Amino acid sequence: MPLPATPWTAADDRYDEGAGRATYRRCGRSGLDLPAVSLGFWHNFGDVDRYETQRETLRRALDLGVTHLDLANNYGPPAGSAEVNFGRHLRDGLGAYRDELIISTKAGYRMGPGPYGDGGSRKYLVSSLDQSLQRMGLDYVDVFYHHRPDPSTPLEETMGALADIVRSGKALYVGVSNYSPARTRDAARVLDGLGVPLTVHQPSYSMFNRHVEDPAHEDGYDGTQTESLLDVLGDLGVGAVVFSPLQQGLLTDRYLTGAAPEGSRAARSSSPFLSSDNLSETYLARARALNEVAQGRGQTLAQLALTWILRDDRVTSTLVGASSARQLEDSVAAASAPALTDDEIAAIEPHAVHGTGR
Ligand SMILES: NC(=O)c1ccc[n+]([C@@H]2O[C@H](COP(=O)([O-])OP(=O)(O)OC[C@H]3O[C@@H](n4cnc5c(N)ncnc54)[C@H](OP(=O)(O)O)[C@@H]3O)[C@@H](O)[C@H]2O)c1
Repeated sequence: MPLPATPWTAADDRYDEGAGRATYRRCGRSGLDLPAVSLGFWHNFGDVDRYETQRETLRRALDLGVTHLDLANNYGPPAGSAEVNFGRHLRDGLGAYRDELIISTKAGYRMGPGPYGDGGSRKYLVSSLDQSLQRMGLDYVDVFYHHRPDPSTPLEETMGALADIVRSGKALYVGVSNYSPARTRDAARVLDGLGVPLTVHQPSYSMFNRHVEDPAHEDGYDGTQTESLLDVLGDLGVGAVVFSPLQQGLLTDRYLTGAAPEGSRAARSSSPFLSSDNLSETYLARARALNEVAQGRGQTLAQLALTWILRDDRVTSTLVGASSARQLEDSVAAASAPALTDDEIAAIEPHAVHGTGR
């Protein structure tokens, strides 16, 4: 039986400029503004996670002006449950603010059985979006992404499906995720030819994962790259919405003692992506050094990690996860912190090493 909606109204001052509240950035050369810190649903919104905690985090997000919520067909666990739970939150008060929200979802990883439950075919993308809309109880999403490249499907077919999805009104904007620089250029060219812009790209980026800065990054698409992903996105006018900016928690105070606290992502058996094995001595030395820089600025390590990414105006938004409203508050405050000085950037550089914590 559906639960009765709990009365709730978002804070009147949610769009007031001020310390601790969201600031907005233009997404590439589109007309879309996104909060500099957005909230992701990969973890913390599945059936294994407490509903009331999810609700508190989401309500705080809206109260702080965090308008952008990032989902995918396979988020949970189990896969699909983050979208089902989000639908429940929409019916539980959030839905009154639908027109103030940018809701994203994606397809590209394995979601269903058989040949149409994975990849980049038109068949998979269109049917998966229909299922996502049904799970969330929505008529349309704001952004629909192809979640990862599928080398076995012609790019023309995948991009053609994204363009048709926009024309059908089921998504307002489209994006790609985890595409290399060269593949991104080609995707943008194909979409352009279809009269639909590539609005956004979602790559990973953090102090410990700097592949988007690296012109030598290769993905086997067409050999050696000559441009970094950030250079390509800047040139094309495509916004970068970067994921795991806190390196799943490694760039926070969560693990500075060298142990994974109870309930943390590294300690939870439902996370195959992060474990105590990631907490090496090298990691700890770098994280503690970065924490000292953060303390010198009166920031938490998480805030420093976000302020550092936001130093580059080709980044539209940092996409954080949060297991509590308090964490989200802490992260959102990074967007209104003073910019890093050249000396602070130089002090960070020796410790912001690609590959740390793997
Ligand atoms: N496109 C893709 O392929 C892709 C892949 C991965 C993620 N994403 C998107 O990016 C989003 C974010 O990814 P992520 O969850 O890995 O991001 P993250 O922000 O790097 O890590 C989030 C985790 O860090 C900890 N944390 C967050 N804020 C904190 C704070 N202020 N202080 C202390 N600890 C804090 C929490 O860990 P605890 O849970 O331990 O408290 C939280 O679950 C996802 O939800 C998803 O929307 C996209």
